[in-house]
Amino acid sequence: MITFNGVTKRYADGTVAVDNLSLEVPTGEITVFVGPSGCGKTTSLRMINRMIDATGGQILLDGVDVKTIDPPTLRRGIGYVIQQAGLFPHRKIVDNVATVPYLLGWDKKKARARAMELLERVGLDLKMADRYPFQLSGGQQQRVGVARALAADPPVLLMDEPFSAVDPIVRASLQEELLRLQSELNKTIVFVTHDIDEAVKLGDRVAVLRVGGKLAQLADPATLLTRPADDFVREFLGRDRGIRRLSFVSGDGLRLRTDLTVPASAEVSSLRGTTEPWLVVVDEDNCPLGWIASKDLPESGTPADVELAPYGTFVKGRDSLRAALDATLLSPSGSAIAVDESGRVVGVAVREALDEELALVAGGVGGVDG
Ligand SMILES: Nc1ncnc2c1ncn2[C@@H]1O[C@H](COP(=O)(O)OP(=O)(O)OP(=O)(O)O)[C@@H](O)[C@H]1O
Ligand SMILES: [Mg+2]
Repeated sequence: MITFNGVTKRYADGTVAVDNLSLEVPTGEITVFVGPSGCGKTTSLRMINRMIDATGGQILLDGVDVKTIDPPTLRRGIGYVIQQAGLFPHRKIVDNVATVPYLLGWDKKKARARAMELLERVGLDLKMADRYPFQLSGGQQQRVGVARALAADPPVLLMDEPFSAVDPIVRASLQEELLRLQSELNKTIVFVTHDIDEAVKLGDRVAVLRVGGKLAQLADPATLLTRPADDFVREFLGRDRGIRRLSFVSGDGLRLRTDLTVPASAEVSSLRGTTEPWLVVVDEDNCPLGWIASKDLPESGTPADVELAPYGTFVKGRDSLRAALDATLLSPSGSAIAVDESGRVVGVAVREALDEELALVAGGVGGVDG
């Protein structure tokens, strides 16, 4: 655990970058520092590994004041990742990753083997190992940066806007990758960003800072979106808070109907007289093909003879209520198809089921200050 106890940083010119900051970064979790430019995020982060020394208060690492630990020893246990990866341009990728093991005096073979293992871990093709940084894309370089920070297996990882220099699609995949890695590694991570969407996606907890280095709010993402502490946080969170919050609610609470599917090979005559306005047509594996409106059923033949309406799915056991809501909006049926991990239909959440669940979620918010 990292503890900030009334930490202040006043630079030589009098600028107060961080003002009396107190918070805890729990072990094995991702804590995100987010806020506008100049609010003291980088300064706060760098005081942890003493690239910058605090001018007031204390930072404790598992109860020990970092000021009492000499910086090289301190940094051995703290990986550090920055924007644009900051790789050494004249060193091969494998040697970049092995930087810290070399410094620690590992023999070259062992250090390189460790580097290869990490390259694989962060999802890089091993043939990149012998290239130089300029021969990699921005996103690939960023992965190398993460691999390098993990090389000596430090319990703590500091990440300062590591993904902000890449395009949105690469950025999303780097975020997913980080979450996947973290689910295996359980590092104590402090992640700095000015992007609130990135913050709520990655953070177990999110600390919103305002200019002057003051903590505006520290909360888990769902709480932050539901109950911003003040107008600054509310404005910083931006629009669509209600919808975005649904990302943190499981879709598993939705009541599913299992009587609305029909095989593509079924004789439509058997469906005549159904009172259901819409049915899901499925293939022989029970995967959805589309919706059919019962008023459009042909005189004879099978649903396969009809042009089916588009559909949306969500994965039961994995996806959020937001994904389920999205699925209903993708279809004129107004219902979401629940599938399992292999895409087979497990049921249908009709509009009323969604309404019931949304009402529960809104009810759970309570109060008038959300
Ligand atoms: N060496 C320095 N001397 C004086 N002031 C500094 C110094 N370094 C940073 N500052 C000031 O401290 C404040 C916080 O800077 P910091 O780099 O921590 O912000 P940040 O939140 O990381 O911003 P950004 O999102 O732009 O990276 C800013 O007002 C900055 O100008
Ligand atoms: Mg910064």
